[in-house]
Amino acid sequence: MSPHIRALRLVNFRNYADATVLLSPGLNVIVGDNAQGKTNLLEAVSFAATGSTPRTSTESEVVRWPAEFARTEMRVVLGDGARGDERAVAVGYAPGQRKRLTVDDVPAESLSSYAAGGAGVRTVTFFPDDLRIVKGAPSDRREYLDGLLSTLRPSYARAVAEYARAVQQRNQLLRRIRDGLSSGKTLQTWDTKVVDLGTRVLQGRAAAVGPLGDFFGSAMRALYGSEKAGMGYSYSAPLEGYCEALTEARDADVERGTTSVGPHRDDLELLLGGMDLTTYGSQGQQRLATLALKFAAREYVRDATGEDPVLLFDDVMSELDGRRREYLAEYFQESTQAVISTTNLEYFEEELLSRSRVIRISGGEISSPADSSGKRDV
Ligand SMILES: Nc1ncnc2c1ncn2[C@@H]1O[C@H](COP(=O)(O)OP(=O)(O)O)[C@@H](O)[C@H]1O
Ligand SMILES: [Mg+2]
Repeated sequence: MSPHIRALRLVNFRNYADATVLLSPGLNVIVGDNAQGKTNLLEAVSFAATGSTPRTSTESEVVRWPAEFARTEMRVVLGDGARGDERAVAVGYAPGQRKRLTVDDVPAESLSSYAAGGAGVRTVTFFPDDLRIVKGAPSDRREYLDGLLSTLRPSYARAVAEYARAVQQRNQLLRRIRDGLSSGKTLQTWDTKVVDLGTRVLQGRAAAVGPLGDFFGSAMRALYGSEKAGMGYSYSAPLEGYCEALTEARDADVERGTTSVGPHRDDLELLLGGMDLTTYGSQGQQRLATLALKFAAREYVRDATGEDPVLLFDDVMSELDGRRREYLAEYFQESTQAVISTTNLEYFEEELLSRSRVIRISGGEISSPADSSGKRDV
């Protein structure tokens, strides 16, 4: 069996002062009224597993007001869960300071290695705001792709970060050249660096889009219908000829003070029956495509690692019709572990709930009936 999370403790995380939740393999349903902390709890699971929040770029938001730090502690059952096969991981975070990540009390090598399996589990998250992957800007789709590949390879995560820094520095230099503060000769060094790092990013993405597109197609078939769905990658400069394209764009780049070609300007195309879902998709098609992208990510991780990632899906049922709800419920039940949130337990069949763990949330307090049954503590 793939690894799964057994327990999680949240300290000063969002609206949780100090709360512990036990999770089971299979389906876990978080239920509670609005604004009680369901989304926050799912965010915390992801934070514990990756060391970062997928929800916001202003990470300091996760610290419970007015505390000064947040902390998550998590117990992961590895393999088939034979005794002793457990990993204890923790993330300590105080805004402005280096994060403290530990694996069995030993500091993690880096944030990227922690996120790429170091914590013992990988996760695939769905938050309602993820609709922007389909609907939003190219950067949202690049983030989806880069995020997925980063959970598989820390070296890819580093290449993405270093590439972004190199482009920024090149842009600064372009503006200095434009303003007569630097000579054009200095550009060559940066161009070489940008192309070197950019090529690594492009190679990673190019290798992923084919299989990921197939998984996306199958997921859309199951969720939407028989029309063929797939992915394409839209290059601002092709892999072959990237260096030449960057050189060619030099004068224009100096004039504008930005780098106009490279993986930071590319887009991931999402297609349904040959139509671009971003531009032409209906709201319903875009919603299902968002979900299908998450299903595709799960298959991709499974294919690459041989392990099923933990699914963290926020409020996914409310937008769906009965048939799709049923499909999803089965899908979650059959996964190694899924943690999903809902305001309404009636979306689930009694029989399914009897085989699942139901976690009740109210005002940042967690109660799950099984917690008092003498199970081990975190
Ligand atoms: N950093 C924070 N400190 C304290 N409370 C927070 C923080 N961030 C969010 N909250 C509170 O969390 C609640 C929302 O929780 P959320 O998980 O989004 O609810 P829901 O159950 O509807 O998903 C709000 O009441 C909000 O004020
Ligand atoms: Mg919510």
